Amino acid sequence: MTEAIPRRETLPITRERPLDPPDELGRWREEATVRRMTYADGHEGWVVTGYAAARAILADPRFSNRPELLHSPFPNRPIRREDLERMPPGFFIRMDPPEHTRYRKLLTGQFTVRRMKLLEPRIAEIVADHLDAMERHGPPVDLVPTFALPIPSLVICELLGVPYGDRERFQRDSAALLNLETPLDDAQAALDDLFAYLHELVLRKSTEQGDDLLSGLISAGELTDREIAGMGLLLLIAGHETTANMLGLGTFALLCDPAQLTVMRDDPGSVENAVEELMRYLSVVHLGLIRAALEDVEIDGRLIRAGESVLLSLPLVNRDPERFADPTVLDLARSAHGHLGFGHGVHQCLGQQLARAEMRIAFPALLRRFPGLRLAVPPEEVPMRAAMAIYGVHRLPVAW
Ligand code: HEM
Repeated sequence: MTEAIPRRETLPITRERPLDPPDELGRWREEATVRRMTYADGHEGWVVTGYAAARAILADPRFSNRPELLHSPFPNRPIRREDLERMPPGFFIRMDPPEHTRYRKLLTGQFTVRRMKLLEPRIAEIVADHLDAMERHGPPVDLVPTFALPIPSLVICELLGVPYGDRERFQRDSAALLNLETPLDDAQAALDDLFAYLHELVLRKSTEQGDDLLSGLISAGELTDREIAGMGLLLLIAGHETTANMLGLGTFALLCDPAQLTVMRDDPGSVENAVEELMRYLSVVHLGLIRAALEDVEIDGRLIRAGESVLLSLPLVNRDPERFADPTVLDLARSAHGHLGFGHGVHQCLGQQLARAEMRIAFPALLRRFPGLRLAVPPEEVPMRAAMAIYGVHRLPVAW
């Protein structure tokens, strides 16, 4: 077993091409799929770029997701110990079992394939309404505020019972939180504000129950109102920013590749595969997932010591040539099954069936309504979300 010699190299973030991860990360994977890297606070941790190693780590209970154990690999975003005390209760993405299990199991029934099937007609209606509005407006439009952002935002609001009219506040807060250039104090203030908003909402719902997920958690009577607010916060952020960026970036990728666009538009039988391939190819959780070793663990011949942090680079892992043939090619006809775009293991995305349903409905509907859809600016003028925790496009001017 060999241990890599620590080198003071931080995470490469700059992309040479908008749809491909940084070339430097690819060179790192050629050197070693598990490699040393210096974190934002100087911690000498690891970066994982190989599919098999990443999947093994995500399934291994010897790796923790508790924030007090994690170091941040992201420049400008060290984890401040004082912020941990202000972490919302019920924010189960940052908990380990059995604490994590207690919260997650209260929600799993709400996000099954069957439950999501029942939502499909409503999702289709929301998509059609937004396409009608685009048509009424006429070209050109920015697809982000007219289509990509409002559809998942409205769907998650209806599911949770969050008034969509309040979107300015929660979209502003979640954008500030996910922007890695937001000063830490401002990011904490956005988190506090979002929590205060959800807490007020939960208190209001305790007296005026509705037929929605938050009301269901209240009437189950197992959690405090602060815990329900924290879970609501997690679902609200996770439920719209991620899918919104898949819709925006996915449309951009298809407009840059007309042959693939035709597959998505004209072949209903391949939509399921096509969405998985876009998830693999785009890997919008582009900086990756972090875990900390609870004990010494050997992965791919490297000894990761207890206390060391590991960054799993999803864009690299999802383009590992050992797992996917011609990984840098977008091929909607391939089976991209098994990609790690929704994570893996106990934290695997709770909302993945919802996200899939939204994408399977929204992409073909958009492309069929506007068969001549095209970029209204040269591709290099589309501003990319390089500094955001979720990758995507800031704006997507289109015409038809
Ligand atoms: C295309 C859209 C989406 C992507 C790419 C995505 C990606 C991910 C990933 C990678 C994780 C794992 C995090 C980790 O292991 O640390 C995750 C977890 C999670 N996602 Fe998603 N997600 C999407 C949509 C959604 C939606 C629509 C919801 C809404 C309900 C949602 C709710 C969650 C929650 C609650 C977790 C935490 C699960 C846990 O810790 O047990 N996600 N997501």
